[in-house]
Amino acid sequence: MTDHYAKAQSAADHIRTYADITPAIGIILGSGLGHFASHVESPIRIPYADIPHFPKSTVEGHSGHLVLGHIAGVPVAVLQGRAHLYEGHSPADVIFPTRVLGLLGCKTLIVTNAAGAISPHLNPGVLVAISDHINFTGINAALGPNEPRFGQRFFDMSAAYSRRLRGLAIEEAARHEFLLTEGVYLAVLGPSFETPAEIRAFRTLGADLVGMSTVHEVIAARHMNIEVLGLSLVTNMAAGVTPAGAEESEQTINHEEVIETGKQTEKQLASLLTALIPRIAKQN
Ligand code: HPA
Repeated sequence: MTDHYAKAQSAADHIRTYADITPAIGIILGSGLGHFASHVESPIRIPYADIPHFPKSTVEGHSGHLVLGHIAGVPVAVLQGRAHLYEGHSPADVIFPTRVLGLLGCKTLIVTNAAGAISPHLNPGVLVAISDHINFTGINAALGPNEPRFGQRFFDMSAAYSRRLRGLAIEEAARHEFLLTEGVYLAVLGPSFETPAEIRAFRTLGADLVGMSTVHEVIAARHMNIEVLGLSLVTNMAAGVTPAGAEESEQTINHEEVIETGKQTEKQLASLLTALIPRIAKQN
C-alpha cells in the first residue's frame, strides 16, 4: 500500500465519522467562490486542519473547510479552498483532497477556479466551461509509484473534461439566460501573474484562459475515472490583453480584483450549480 493511499483512506475514514453521507458529487471552489458552500442543506463543516493529512490553503479567499450535505437532494462534498503548488505544497498535497473525494465515493468532480482571459472575446465576470487544458506547470501530480487502487499507470486524458457535463452546463446556463462559452485553460505554476509576452505565447499555443490551479486535480480525478466538469470564472483580462472592442489601456492585475469579481459572479455560479447538480445526479 502506498503512503498516499493509506493517508487518503485515513482522511476519508475520519470524514465519515462526522456524517453518514456518501457524496455523489465533489465540488472544489476556487478563489473568491467559496460562498457557494452556503447553499449546502444541513451542512456539516469540517475544518481542513481537523482532517488527517489534509493540506491547508494559505491564500486569502480560500476558507479551508470541507462541507458535507445535500444540494437539491443530492449528497455532495464541497471543498472551500484548495492547495496550490505556488504555496509550496507538493504535487501529492495538491491532489490529496481529490483523492479523498474519490475514496468518499464521488463519481463526478466539479472544479471551479478564477482565471485570466487570454481570449479577447471573454470579459471579467464571465463563466466559461473548460473544454480542455494545457498543463504548463512543469510537473504532473500523478508522478511517482502508481497506486493501482486509484487507477492505471498510464491513463487517457483525451476527454478529460466531460462533453456530456459541459453540454448539461451550457443548457442550464441558457435556461438561466446567460451564455456559457467553452475554452481551453492553461495552468502555470505562479505565483507571479504572467508577462504580456507569456500571454501572447500561450495564445499561440491555443489557450483561452490562464490560471494557477485545477489541472492536477483533474489529472488525479481522471486517474480515478471520475467524470469532470471544469468551470472558470474570468476575473480579469490576462496581462496585455484588451477586451475586443475596448480602448487599449495600461492595466495591472491584482489578487483583490480576482476576489472581488469572484464575489460578484457567485450568484450566477450558484444558480447554475444548484440547477445542474440534480441533473448530473439523475443521469449517473
Ligand atoms: N493569471 C493567472 N492566474 C490567474 C489570473 C491570471 O491573470 N487571474 C486569476 N487567476
